[in-house]
Amino acid sequence: MTITRKFTVALLLASILLGVPGTSTGRADNGGNAIAKAGAIDTQLTDELKLANETLYEAFASRDIYRMGQLWVKYEGASSIFPAESMAQYGWENVRQSWQYSFDHIRDIQLSSLAGIIIVDSDEEGAIAWIIDSNRLEGVHTQTGQPFVMPNMLTTKIFERRDGEWRVVHYHAHQPRLQPPTATHELSLKRPLDPVHAPEVEAADDRFYNALRNQSLEEMDGIWASSKDVTAVQPDVGVAFVGKANVMASWKSLFSHNKKIGITNVEREVFLRGNIAWTVGSYEFHALRQTDGEFIHVPKILVTKILEKTDGGWRLVHYHGHIGPQAHEHDLGSAGGHGGHDMASAGDSNMVFAKCAKCHQVGPEAGNVVGPHLNGIFGRKAGSVANYGMYSSGIKKLRDQGFSWTEETLDEWIADPKKLLPESPMAFAFPGIPDASQRKEIIQYLKSFSN
Ligand code: HEC
Repeated sequence: MTITRKFTVALLLASILLGVPGTSTGRADNGGNAIAKAGAIDTQLTDELKLANETLYEAFASRDIYRMGQLWVKYEGASSIFPAESMAQYGWENVRQSWQYSFDHIRDIQLSSLAGIIIVDSDEEGAIAWIIDSNRLEGVHTQTGQPFVMPNMLTTKIFERRDGEWRVVHYHAHQPRLQPPTATHELSLKRPLDPVHAPEVEAADDRFYNALRNQSLEEMDGIWASSKDVTAVQPDVGVAFVGKANVMASWKSLFSHNKKIGITNVEREVFLRGNIAWTVGSYEFHALRQTDGEFIHVPKILVTKILEKTDGGWRLVHYHGHIGPQAHEHDLGSAGGHGGHDMASAGDSNMVFAKCAKCHQVGPEAGNVVGPHLNGIFGRKAGSVANYGMYSSGIKKLRDQGFSWTEETLDEWIADPKKLLPESPMAFAFPGIPDASQRKEIIQYLKSFSN
């Protein structure tokens, strides 16, 4: 039988403690003392871990890819989610390229940890630890000479102890509400060579998404471990939630702000070490905001979750989600402001188009709002407006199949969007127009902007 010891220590200055979303960082200076104890703190393990964490910062600040490499596991189990990237990277080679890209594009780096917690889970076979912290990152863009600062970069780091040394296995960082300074660079997505089959972990991960879809606090409560050291980093909040009550308050807030939540396109990889597992990937988020019924669509929330096997099965102990770079104009906090299209410009004779105008513009001044502009729609390839960054993967698939909009396909689409693309955000938020004569009127109207 293995004896598991789990313990938590405050890192550096303080732990992040907090209550309500939207409030500023509430910090309690714990002077490096334990904030929760499920077992005796092994100071040697945590001291070594702190050292590994500091060495990671030094390798980062000095842009030393060799040193960075020494700190990481080199096998396919390595993964990362970087602030300026729109997807997770799997395998050390891809993670290495992301570091290299950062080192090539930023210089004069200063990095300091503001606050955070370390959670260590160890048994006779080894140990896994994770550090949730907030950091200040300053630097200069190498290409433009422009200085930049990320005052509050939130980070999840997972370490694994092998042969007496701590190694990084996962790194996830983002700066809330910051448009990434550099263009997203896309690496070819390489799956781990040896995908982990862990049906129980996957089922637990699925239950999480169902709880979100059902907006069920009860389900969410059952999915999380009940220990004091569970943590959550939510996309639209600048601090980590620590402790079950605070974590649950963060879900309650999300549920109460939205009438209806849709979760699609879940992608994940599972990593498993004994009684600890983590999943890395992304999901697409749709919601109708409670206050004004405004439609919110986030094409990609990048996510890391850590799970622990308890007597009752796999439970979440950490969640870190952030909005992918392409979606900033329509993120969870700022989805308002658009969609209030001036109906007068749609013309009196086209009141039916008002149903679309909530999300689409057409005409000489038309831009992309919730949906893409509809100028020149007839003969236009599906999913082809270049500067509309929020197409769903479903419509991109149609585009790749050569699908384009004609009177017939458009009529079918607006009669019942779900029929053509069940997972499209438009299908989620718009039931369609059953009345054929109304559809005809809209099509005639759109024709006047298509020649
Ligand atoms: C609640 C918001 C919403 C409403 C209302 C809505 N749409 Fe959309 N529409 C979208 C979104 C979002 C997309 C992108 C779909 C995707 O990426 O899968 C879209 C896509 C489209 C497309 C495909 C565009 C392209 O570039 O391929 C057409 C055409 C379209 N809508 C027409 C309409 C018409 C006509 C109406 C009114 C009858 C309408 N929509 C109502 C949100 C909406």
